[in-house]
Amino acid sequence: MSDFTMHEALTQELVEQKYQLYLARINDALGRCFDRESPLTLYAPARYILEGNGKRIRPFLTLLASEAVCGSSTRALKVGLAVEILHNFTLIHDDIMDQAELRHGRATVHKKWNTNSAILSGDMMIAYAYELVLQAKSSRHSELIHILNDANITICEGQALDMELEDKRDATIADYIDMIAKKTGRLISAALEAGGVAGDATSEQLQSLVLFGEKIGRAFQIQDDYLDIMAENGKSGKMAGGDIINGKKTYLLLRSLELTTGMERDLLHSIIINKGIGAERVPEVKAIYERCGVLDETASLINRTTEEALTAIESLPHAEGREHLRGFANMLMKRDF
Ligand code: IPE
Ligand code: IPE
Ligand code: MG
Ligand code: MG
Ligand code: MG
Repeated sequence: MSDFTMHEALTQELVEQKYQLYLARINDALGRCFDRESPLTLYAPARYILEGNGKRIRPFLTLLASEAVCGSSTRALKVGLAVEILHNFTLIHDDIMDQAELRHGRATVHKKWNTNSAILSGDMMIAYAYELVLQAKSSRHSELIHILNDANITICEGQALDMELEDKRDATIADYIDMIAKKTGRLISAALEAGGVAGDATSEQLQSLVLFGEKIGRAFQIQDDYLDIMAENGKSGKMAGGDIINGKKTYLLLRSLELTTGMERDLLHSIIINKGIGAERVPEVKAIYERCGVLDETASLINRTTEEALTAIESLPHAEGREHLRGFANMLMKRDF
């Protein structure tokens, strides 16, 4: 092994250890949220979604961002929890919108309870998240609230664009990139930005963290689309092929329309015209993706976008914190669920 790859392997191992350590801290603190018993149909769904095996990537990024600007991860914890709770509120509402029945390998909230409970628990979680931010030890609360507000509004814009794209026959890859920056990229960049503020970052440092977050957020959603159909048996904890069944404009679908001709292209085009396809035809679509080269292109796009992200954080002040952000971006790029 060369010195370089040896260094990389060592970094990956340290990041993995740190991730496991912080994951336990984050999960422990999340387990103490929403401890009221009544009304049960309001609080039980919030506890239930947080008990699912979420990866906690956003709060982990919040803690790493704080450290990378020479701040402490302990002081950033409440901010990270707030971001994770906001994320889980978006998952509950997203599952209603996507008519998804499975999340984290279990029934979605609106299936286990009902849509009204799912809407209401989600609403309550937003307010709960803001309370946590106000409890964080920081002299910059209004900045933190502003970041979360901006992220929240931007996610709503992204989800609205996601729905509008379902109805748009001539959607382009540029439309898709804009939509995912909003529905997914902004919360990831906000997790980093808020972590930076919690660690008392300068405005240039915040800019670097946001740029890094935008890039890994883009890679992350493209990979989410990839895993929607390619994740090994049930590993994603979601229904395999859900995006195809619902006629979602994913990178895979839009790009493979450009790469195919004849009957293959006709089948893909029918997904757009009919706004979806029967679950029994998902294997045919998967076979087209496998044949037309879109999977290799997607993998290299994820790689390239992650590489771009890494250049954004080169000037952050804390060398070890910077290495951990780098290592975690590489870990995310290789994820399989
Ligand atoms: C799922 O996010 C929604 C997207 C923005 C793609 P995650 O994949 O981070 O969800 P959990 O929290 O780990 O379940
Ligand atoms: C997620 O997009 C966006 C938000 C949750 C805001 P998806 O609809 O692709 O997420 P999953 O695949 O259901 O997790
Ligand atoms: Mg969705
Ligand atoms: Mg969804
Ligand atoms: Mg998805």
